[in-house]
Amino acid sequence: MSTRHSATITARAGIAQDPAYGSVTPPLYLTSTYELKAFKQPGKYDYSRSNNPTRDLLGDALAELEGGAKGLVTSTGMSACVLALQLLTPADTLVIPHDCYGGSYRLFVNLANRKQAFKVVIVNFQQDNWAELVANAKPKMIWLETPSNPLLQITDIKAVCELAKTLAALVVVDNTFLSPVLQQPLQLGADIVVHSTTKYLNGHSDIVGGALITKDQATGDELKWWANCLGLTGGAFDAHLVLRGIRTLLPRMRAHLENTTLIVDFLQQQKLVAKTYYPGLKDHPGHAIAKAQQNGFGAMVSFDLAADEAYLPVFFNALQCFTLAQSLGGIESLICHPGTMTHASMDAAAQKAAGMGPTLIRLSVGIEDSRDLLADLAQAFAAVEQAMLADDVKPVSTAPEAVAPAATFVQEATRAPATSNKVATDAQSQQEFRLNPALAAFW
Ligand SMILES: Cc1ncc(COP(=O)(O)O)c(C=O)c1O
Repeated sequence: MSTRHSATITARAGIAQDPAYGSVTPPLYLTSTYELKAFKQPGKYDYSRSNNPTRDLLGDALAELEGGAKGLVTSTGMSACVLALQLLTPADTLVIPHDCYGGSYRLFVNLANRKQAFKVVIVNFQQDNWAELVANAKPKMIWLETPSNPLLQITDIKAVCELAKTLAALVVVDNTFLSPVLQQPLQLGADIVVHSTTKYLNGHSDIVGGALITKDQATGDELKWWANCLGLTGGAFDAHLVLRGIRTLLPRMRAHLENTTLIVDFLQQQKLVAKTYYPGLKDHPGHAIAKAQQNGFGAMVSFDLAADEAYLPVFFNALQCFTLAQSLGGIESLICHPGTMTHASMDAAAQKAAGMGPTLIRLSVGIEDSRDLLADLAQAFAAVEQAMLADDVKPVSTAPEAVAPAATFVQEATRAPATSNKVATDAQSQQEFRLNPALAAFW
């Protein structure tokens, strides 16, 4: 394992490794294929779906950063997830957390239900009896996402990995929300780490990409074979941009964290904020674990707007510095409404079970000047307050109770029944949302 520190690994990612001309910054190999030295004598590279020098530099840098044996670069974060799932067969059980990224949830549930690719058991890792629930499921693989998306709940990676060992189960951790600078799951006992490099690793919101890092070489080799076989590997140009991005990962993360601390303090003081979700808060249930297993609390924060959801557009429209968009981890601040955006692929029942309320708002705090970010939020809250005053409405507490089931087989997680007009209308609007091709990414 590398003895270099994160700041050095990131700053020097791909630097001074050019065997052809000694260029300090790595060249970008935009080629689909490679000339053989002679008949039956291929060189190190033969075809870029299988191998590409630019992509390999990124894979090596990420493996070193996470402390793994092998780093594989994929076309998207979702393809990194798909790649990890190749280790499962229809007889195997995958345990997933009840509040993971909506797209991952959609992938797991649909592969299990529609393809019978494996069985899925959903576990709420926040419950005291999570270990019993996991053990009862007899999993081949346990999927973790911590901090979780969008409620920033924390799972004890070490404790899950210790249990997994006794069950001969693999542990995969989606480390997208923190990056290897703030959390290194392989050092806590995990077997595989996945990333959406679209987020902090690239950091500039100008590519979509993914990565998978394995603790051991054999699993890495097996998954490299599948990545080539299934065509999941990432493009050279995207790898080049992510390599450039990770060179500034550490200073970017520092700036993200500095701004986030100030914003969390500010949110805590707002009467139009019913609840703030951030593991850095002392009263956050996962605070102590986050402190122990992370090198920082991250730059994602969520809160419930203490107003009826009808006021959400007022809040979003008033913002100038926070851009209403899904995704996260870029240098620019983004804001989203997970219920209708990143997590729209979870039905109403699943969202409720995960503890997501109707006015839950998620911030990806960027690296702009904190004074501008705070002023922007302040004037958006003022706009909502004014609108509510005009309507003679008082702030409401909207923080929902998490009603996650003990352990749910995915086959039981059906869509919410239309028990009232309100639910029927919600189901209808969800259906309209689904049919809009421009929103396909969400579904
Ligand atoms: C935690 C997490 N994992 C995986 C993904 C999927 O990544 P991508 O959009 O790059 O496919 C996302 C996307 O938002 C994410 O937030």
